[in-house]
Amino acid sequence: MPERFSDKKVLVTGAAGFLGSHLVDALLAEGAQVTGVDNFLTGNKNNLAHIKTENFAFIEADVNQPTDQYLKNQIFDFIFHFASPASPPYYQQFPRETYLVNTVATDHLLNFLKETNPNGTFVFAGTSEAYGDPQEHPQQETYWGHVNPNGPRSMYDESKRLGETICGVFYRTFKIDTRIVRIFNTYGPRIDAHDGRIIPSFITAALKNEPMEVYGDGSQTRSYCYVSDLIEGILRLSLEPKAKGETVNLGNPGEFSVLETAKIVWEAIHGTESEPKITSAPLPKDDPMRRQPDITKAKQLLGWEPKIDFHDGLKKTIEYFRHADI
Ligand SMILES: NC(=O)c1ccc[n+]([C@@H]2O[C@H](COP(=O)([O-])OP(=O)(O)OC[C@H]3O[C@@H](n4cnc5c(N)ncnc54)[C@H](O)[C@@H]3O)[C@@H](O)[C@H]2O)c1
Repeated sequence: MPERFSDKKVLVTGAAGFLGSHLVDALLAEGAQVTGVDNFLTGNKNNLAHIKTENFAFIEADVNQPTDQYLKNQIFDFIFHFASPASPPYYQQFPRETYLVNTVATDHLLNFLKETNPNGTFVFAGTSEAYGDPQEHPQQETYWGHVNPNGPRSMYDESKRLGETICGVFYRTFKIDTRIVRIFNTYGPRIDAHDGRIIPSFITAALKNEPMEVYGDGSQTRSYCYVSDLIEGILRLSLEPKAKGETVNLGNPGEFSVLETAKIVWEAIHGTESEPKITSAPLPKDDPMRRQPDITKAKQLLGWEPKIDFHDGLKKTIEYFRHADI
């Protein structure tokens, strides 16, 4: 198969993060020349340590700074803006960094593209959190969401929503090719073991034979997308000519209650012989009760749907955690 990004120059922000590092790998495999930027706020140098090719360059920088502080005379065909703390404990620990990177940095990077290569493509890492605690189920891109503008998750949810607005302004007013991916819960190797996201939290607890902490009665639902599926969807979104200016959900529609998830993770590690160890904790404020992507648009526009079954993806992720230093 021909390489889809042959000789394309690509900038990835948040390159040392979970998704950013997988995106870098996929782009390099598709023939791109990739520049990664990261300030290691929540990322990890080890996520890029395996990359040996001269087609990859790394810049350690804070993308909340004006771009001329870290980019010199470079021109990119694609910018993937993936820098941002992504889990509630991290975005609550870094609230200003979070709202700045999704808004001010988005504006800086789009302005940079407009000035240096107005024909380039900009892909923004949006989120299912844009739907808040949704009143419609499953969530379609046309749903405007149900978000608390001033609550414990707003620095993330609302700044991602404003990030989308900024993409829309550059698309409509300045004719820049922007595309927004609303990413639903994604997991896989390199996801941070300690950032409080459900899959790594359950896996690390179960591997240590410790109780998994379930919020509330565990009846709230989540859907989990394996990282390779998500990355393939993102590549297709960035390349599809009909996706200019579009917003597309990417995620796995398989829906599991949190309690069910805990049992599946426990069984994948300990088998069915022992009862899962579970403790319960109060439901955090504004925790969404149901999350499930409607991926009709991704199917129609990109011919994309996830391929990796939850149990198979879990196996690969558990294997990674068995060898990771957690
Ligand atoms: N993983 C998911 O399930 C998920 C779901 C929805 C949206 N997203 C979005 O995808 C993107 C990547 O998420 P992730 O899961 O890989 O998180 P991550 O924390 O592993 O990666 C984010 C990376 O961005 C870097 N970063 C943060 N602020 C920066 C700054 N100012 N300058 C330079 N680098 C900075 C961090 O150091 C980190 O390496 C984020 O924008 C996130 O909001 C992820």
